[in-house]
Amino acid sequence: MKIFMDTANTEEIRKYADMGFVYGVTTNPSLVAKSGRTQADVIPEICSIVTGPVSAEVISTDCEGMLAEARKLAAIAKNVVVKIPCIPEGLKAVKVLASEGIRTNVTLVFSLPQALLAARAGASFVSPFVGRIDDIGGDGVGLVADIVEVFHNYGIKTEVIAASIRSVSHVNEVMLAGADIATVPTKILDKLLMHPLTTQGLEKFLEDYRNSQKA
Ligand code: G3P
Repeated sequence: MKIFMDTANTEEIRKYADMGFVYGVTTNPSLVAKSGRTQADVIPEICSIVTGPVSAEVISTDCEGMLAEARKLAAIAKNVVVKIPCIPEGLKAVKVLASEGIRTNVTLVFSLPQALLAARAGASFVSPFVGRIDDIGGDGVGLVADIVEVFHNYGIKTEVIAASIRSVSHVNEVMLAGADIATVPTKILDKLLMHPLTTQGLEKFLEDYRNSQKA
């Protein structure tokens, strides 16, 4: 499973990109607003930090508007992926963009049929929202597992991005469910690397080293 960062904060992205495991980034209008910057300002910078896919979302809700936005976004950098909502106009746009070689990430996916239809329309990625499904009493990880199984059964190449990740357990579970990618908010990423036994073990090694130098 590849790790993406789910943020538009370039300071956070730089910090983690230096550790080598961040392959791509996903943003959405809420995350861009939270960064205090505009999409036009932040996306080129993110694309210069990571070499993998960087999702930038359209805000139009009609096919023509989405296409116009998507073409502008795709012109920013080779690694831009255009994020399109899973609505009928969105899938029309995905079909056209696929024929133009522009990669798309169909977002706000909450069901297995939505994922299948997005993939069949030509989406490069689909993003089931794990946490938001759990919020309404559903099984977000179960949906990821189902999509992975169906795509595997039918030889569908569309990659599954587990999105709306809210906990370390979500990351563990979507990994075991076979998600191609988990897009992880920074505050969860902070927790993934930490383990108290690593911290304690390192302290003890360093203490023993220092004591051996005194002897
Ligand atoms: O990748 C989608 C994600 O940003 C949504 O997360 O926590 O707002 O449901 P959340």
